[in-house]
Amino acid sequence: MTTNQFPKNFLWGVAISGHQTEGDNLNSDWCVWEKNGKIEDGSISGEACDFYHRYQADIDSAKSLNLNAFRLSIEWSRIEPTEGKFDEKEIEHYKNVLLYLKQNNFKVFLTLWHFTLPQWLATQGGWENKKTIFYFQRYIEKIVKKFGNLVDFWLTLNEPTMYTGAAYLTGVWPPEKRSFLKTVKVFCKLMEAHKKSYEIIHHLIPEAKVGIAQNVVYFHSPQNPMDKYLSWFFNFLYNKLFYLLTKKYHDFIGLNYYYAYLVSNLNLVKKIKRIIVKSLKKKDLKVEIYPPGIYQVIKMFKKYKIPIYITENGLDDADDKKRPEFIRDHLKWINEAIQEGTQVKGYLHWSLMDNFEWQEGFEPKYGLFEVDYKTLERKPRQSAKFYSEIAKNNRF
Ligand code: BGC
Repeated sequence: MTTNQFPKNFLWGVAISGHQTEGDNLNSDWCVWEKNGKIEDGSISGEACDFYHRYQADIDSAKSLNLNAFRLSIEWSRIEPTEGKFDEKEIEHYKNVLLYLKQNNFKVFLTLWHFTLPQWLATQGGWENKKTIFYFQRYIEKIVKKFGNLVDFWLTLNEPTMYTGAAYLTGVWPPEKRSFLKTVKVFCKLMEAHKKSYEIIHHLIPEAKVGIAQNVVYFHSPQNPMDKYLSWFFNFLYNKLFYLLTKKYHDFIGLNYYYAYLVSNLNLVKKIKRIIVKSLKKKDLKVEIYPPGIYQVIKMFKKYKIPIYITENGLDDADDKKRPEFIRDHLKWINEAIQEGTQVKGYLHWSLMDNFEWQEGFEPKYGLFEVDYKTLERKPRQSAKFYSEIAKNNRF
C-alpha cells in the first residue's frame, strides 16, 4: 500500500443530523428553545434544509460523489411526539429514508439521539429525570424492531461529553443549566442510557454493531510540564472518560474530530474561570485547526483494539478556500495512523450540505453542498468534487 492509498473496503461518507437538516419539527426541546431568541444570528431552524422532503435528491447527491456510507439521525420527538404515543407515519417516513439509502448501496450509520429531546420529556427534566432511561429504552426497542435490518452501525448517542458540557456546565444549550453536580449526574445518566441501549440492540440483533460518536479535541502544549500535565488531564477527561467507563459496550469507536486546543497555563485558568463565572462565549472557543491532532486522538484509542470510524470531521468555510486542503491534510494523518496499524475503517465528512449549526444558527457553512436558504437550492462546492475523486480512487 502506498502512503496515500486507503485500505480496500474503506468507507467514504458524509454525516448529517435530523434537527439540523430536516426542518419543520414542532415537538422537540430545541424547536421550543430557539423561538425564545436564543440563536446568535437571530434565526430558528424552521424549514432548515427541508431534508425531510428532499431526502431522495440529497441521497442522490451523496451517491454522485462516489460515497458508500451515510450517517443520519432520527428525531425522537417526531417518533414519539407525546408521551407513550408513537407516530407510525413518522416511523414509516424514516423507514423509507433508510430503504432509499439501502437501495443506493450505502452503509448506514444511524444516530438515535443527536442532542434533541421530545419537548414532553424536556418538561419532565430531560436527562436529569430517572425515568428518561426507561423512555429511551422504549423508544430504541421500537426503532430496532421496526427497521433493524436497514442499519449497519448504530450510534446510540452523539457526543455525550460535549452535550453535558454545553447544556449543563456552560449552559449555552437547553436546558441552560450551570451546575457541576448536574453535569456529573447527566454524564452518568448518558453512560447508563448507552449501556442499556447497547444491551437492547444486541438482544434484538446479536450481530449488530453498536457505538457512540464521541467529540474529541486534541489538547496539547509546549514544553512547560504543568501545561503538559493539564493537557493530559483534559485529554483524559474530555476524550476518554466516557469510553473508559463504558468500555465493554462498544463494538467500534466513533470519533468526531474538528480541532485542537493549545493549552497554556494562564489561558486555561482564564478559560475555566469564564466557564464557571459566566457562560462561555464564542470568542472563548479560539481553537486551532490542527490535522496532526486527528492522528493523536486515533492513537489514544488504538489500545482498545476495535475498529475506529471518523464519524465527523469538517470545517466552517463558506467560500471553500480551505476545505480541500483541510480534507487532504486530515486524511494524510488518518492514513499515517492506518500505516501504523490502527484499524480506521471509514471517514464521514461533516457535512453533506450547509445546515443549522445549533446556537450559531445558519451562519456557519459546513457543507460540501452550499444551500441557498431562500430557494433551498443546493450547489456543489469545489471541495465536493475534490472529495468525490478521493472516494472514487480510494486515495488522495
Ligand atoms: C456536532 C454537529 C455539529 C458539528 C459542527 C459536532 O460537534 O455533532 O451536530 O454541527 O459539530 O459544529
